[in-house]
Amino acid sequence: MEITFLEEIDSTNTYLKDKENKKNWETVAADIQTAGRGRRDKKWFSGKGGAWFSIAIKEDKNITMQEMLKLPFIVCYAVINKTEEIAGLELKYKWTNDIYCNEKKLCGILIEKSGDFFIIGIGINVNNVEFGEFGDIATSLACEINREFNIKEIIEAVVDEIKSSYSMFLRGEWSIIIQYLREKDFLLNRKIVVNTEEKEITGEALGLDEDAFLMIRTINGNEKINTGDIFWKHNI
Ligand code: BTN
Repeated sequence: MEITFLEEIDSTNTYLKDKENKKNWETVAADIQTAGRGRRDKKWFSGKGGAWFSIAIKEDKNITMQEMLKLPFIVCYAVINKTEEIAGLELKYKWTNDIYCNEKKLCGILIEKSGDFFIIGIGINVNNVEFGEFGDIATSLACEINREFNIKEIIEAVVDEIKSSYSMFLRGEWSIIIQYLREKDFLLNRKIVVNTEEKEITGEALGLDEDAFLMIRTINGNEKINTGDIFWKHNI
């Protein structure tokens, strides 16, 4: 499926969510997003120089919604794999939807549901060096290795890689995906504070289990969570 490259759009996720007659694996990318969105209603700074793109994946009646909750992991696996190969950098996976490089955020993923489609929005900081209000916590490939990349090539390669990791998942090879992410775990052994919908949990991250739940050691014993907003701290 061809990728549509636009110069400017409000948000590639909004565009695909609203688009009628979408096709499975339809993908749209934009040089600039004027209203890029992050998770939990945060703004996503999307000036020129980043890889901002969204993919529509059609719900498959043979796959349960519970299984589809593995999508962010499948996508992160593919993005890390391909981006490391292209840039020659070591990346880390931050549960659930983020990719880090040298302690700073390089990529974020926003997955939304629209009718019988999942819209997977991916933002990778590539040649951009300005991150607005996120200046001190974000980085880009260019910031890390001081050279420019071909954004179109990165998007095409990453979309291909997501297709192949999704096929791995369909073939029952989830354990390869989760094992890879466990080895790249950014939060492992860090002191973290997790805000779930019900409560705040403070403790030490113990890694991911087979089903990609995050395990945390707290003063009241171990906890396992599958959702939440993660903040990590060095000293608590
Ligand atoms: C996050 O880290 O909170 C997720 C950020 C997701 C950003 C991407 S950029 C392409 C797509 N369009 C959007 O408006 N958001 C996603």
